[in-house]
Amino acid sequence: MTIMAVLLFRRTHRSRNEGREPPKADLNNETEQDMQFFIDTADLEEIRAANELGVLDGVTTNPSLVAKIVQEPDRFTYDDFKAHIAKICEIVDGPVSAEVTTLTADEMIAQGEELASIDENVVVKCPLTLDGLKATRALSGSGIRVNATLVFTTTQAILAAKAGASYVSPFVGRLDDISTEGMALIRQIVTVYENYGYPTEVLVASIRHPQHVVEAALAGADVATIPYKVIGQLAKHPLTDNGLERFMKDAAIFGRE
Ligand code: E4P
Repeated sequence: MTIMAVLLFRRTHRSRNEGREPPKADLNNETEQDMQFFIDTADLEEIRAANELGVLDGVTTNPSLVAKIVQEPDRFTYDDFKAHIAKICEIVDGPVSAEVTTLTADEMIAQGEELASIDENVVVKCPLTLDGLKATRALSGSGIRVNATLVFTTTQAILAAKAGASYVSPFVGRLDDISTEGMALIRQIVTVYENYGYPTEVLVASIRHPQHVVEAALAGADVATIPYKVIGQLAKHPLTDNGLERFMKDAAIFGRE
């Protein structure tokens, strides 16, 4: 191989995990490169139920998901919103994304700092706009983790990584909705991040069904944020149900103490 060929080979085979220890199993069956499962909801009951399964790593919310669980919208204040995020952080010991609700960089930075002060697990969600990029750079520069949201192209994902985002959230379901293959975007972003060793984690958002989770895993995405209903669907199979019914019937001959 010529020197150029060696350099090219090394460049194209550089992985985001380069330099890390190889995956190690621990007692919880986790590896350092474990695919993370977040729940995509602001509903405390759903979060508790998913957390009890023992496979939940974090939570993502957005203003629409929060609005869904508010019972008295006229009386819900910004302090109530922050208190709600604090409650989520009490339930789940992992990253909890809370989204800014302002449009200018300065306001996003101020709001992001306020949200991050709720709990060390809060990750501030900033939209992938030019102002959002500035806010992402400023917040991540001061040690606050940012989830770059509303991402629909690879160029947006590159900008998120360059601005120092901890997570990038491409919305696969919303792309599928407009007849564009959302998962193709995930595959591109994973490849580009690997090409350059960007540490930004690819968080697959807007998941609608189990096949999105399968394809996210095949693409090597770091995180899938999954609605509660879809988490249930991941475990479901009619052959499991039928097999169990049969085993229970046959086990009846053992009797019970
Ligand atoms: C989470 O981070 C996103 O805001 C969410 O997955 C969007 O999902 P939707 O497209 O189903 O609203």
